Order: sequence, then C-alpha cells, then structure tokens
Amino acid sequence: QCYFQAEHSWQGKRLLVTAGGTRERIDPVRYIGNDSSGKMGYALAEAAARKGADVVLVSANVAIPAPEGVRLVQVETAEQMRSAVLQEFDQSHVVIKAAAVADYRPIRTETKKRKKQPLEPGASQQTDADNWTIELVPNPDILAELGERRTHQFIIGFAAETHDLAHYAMDKLRRKKCQLMVANDISAEGAGFHGDTNIVSLFDDNGLLMAFPQMTKRELADRILSVAEQKLPGSSS
Ligand code: CTP
Ligand code: CA
Repeated sequence: QCYFQAEHSWQGKRLLVTAGGTRERIDPVRYIGNDSSGKMGYALAEAAARKGADVVLVSANVAIPAPEGVRLVQVETAEQMRSAVLQEFDQSHVVIKAAAVADYRPIRTETKKRKKQPLEPGASQQTDADNWTIELVPNPDILAELGERRTHQFIIGFAAETHDLAHYAMDKLRRKKCQLMVANDISAEGAGFHGDTNIVSLFDDNGLLMAFPQMTKRELADRILSVAEQKLPGSSS
C-alpha cells in the first residue's frame, strides 16, 4: 500500500516539460542552435510518468528516444515552443522549463539557400565587404510569459550559468515569477549540457533551498520532483 502510493504520488497531476534546444533558421540548410542535449528534461518527464503523472513533453531537436508513457510534441523554434506550451499551460498543474530557448533569432529566414559570394576575380585579400552579417532579433521569453499568465500552476525554471550562480538564479526566479529555480553551473566538471550527470542547486523565493552534489540526471530528476511534490498545494508536508 505504502509502496504503491510512493510510486504513484503524481497520479492525477498534469505535468508540462520542455526539453532540448531550439533552432532558429537562417535558410533551408542553416540554423542557430545551442548545446542542449535534452537529457535533463527527458529524465524529468520519464521520472514523473513513472510516478503516475500525465506528462506532455515539448521537445526541441533532441536525439534521444522519448520516454514511455509521455505525450511528445516536437518543435523546432522558440516561437513553435511558445505556442505548444501556451496550448498546454491552462490544463497543467506543474510546468518544468528545462529547454534551452534561443534568446535571439535571425530577423528573417531566407527561403533559398544563401550562396557563398565569390571574391572578385583577381582580388587577393578579403575585405570587410566579404563578410556576412546576420541580424538577430530577440525571441519571446516563454517562461516569463508563463509567470505573467499563471493562475494555479507550479512553475519550475532552469538557470544555466557560468558565474554568480546564486545571484542570477534568484534574479531569474523573481523576474520570471517561478516557484522553483533549478540552477546549474555549466562551467563545472561533471555538469552541464552533454553529460549524464549534473550539479545543481535549488532556489525558491526565500533563497537557496538545497545544493545537490554531482549526481546522474535521472537521480536528480527524482530529487527535483520530490521537492516540487512537497511544495504543491494540497501536499500534506
Ligand atoms: N527561457 C524561456 N524563453 C526564452 C529564454 C529562456 O522560456 N526565450 C527559460 C528557459 O527555459 C529557462 C529559463 O528561462 O527555464 C532561464 O533560461 P536562461 O537562458 O538561463 O536565462 P535567460 O533569461 O535567457 O538569461 P541569460 O541567457 O542571459 O542568462
Ligand atoms: Ca538564455
């Protein structure tokens, strides 16, 4: 009985997870992307599904297979992620924004592949006129928008930092109106995008809540969900 409850402690909860990294198109064969592997978000989606949650996984450009028992929505760009997320937001109890969303996108996407401009015949040296400049415009901040629209949802944001972790994590938590911020120092050994392990600290509105030692992303997923579970409205603790 006890075991059953622990295993299905997320029964009846709808969880929205974003994972991976968005790509912003330059032309039909080129894009601006980032190093996110999607492993942390996928581990969270998998762990929550195992605990009985009804999971929607909005995934951008990830090379790993979708966990069993989750509803997968595949997107490429930040704008596509935004619409997919907004479509699910009202019905969600918990939102975890693990995805690395591109902060900027090219001002336009060329419909034809850009051709390399050959140097003028006889020109021996490159000049500034040979450079290609791509103008970027800011993408919408999905997490900040969710924070504004929030009615009942418990929102968990991520902060990837190389320095001043606590400062930036708290700044993002407050600006984006999240209930929990998962901060990782991506410059540390054993942490960050590619590996199977991560080193994170959790922040809530009161500041640092806990600092985990290095552990696998799967184990970390369980720990993050346990903390969220205890903080959810209706939790007995
Ligand atoms: N995020 C988002 N939409 C964006 C940018 C970020 O939803 N356009 C979310 C990410 O999914 C993550 C959180 O915001 O949960 C923090 O992302 P991060 O890149 O660390 O923070 P930024 O606010 O973009 O600031 P910066 O990149 O300058 O550190
Ligand atoms: Ca960013």
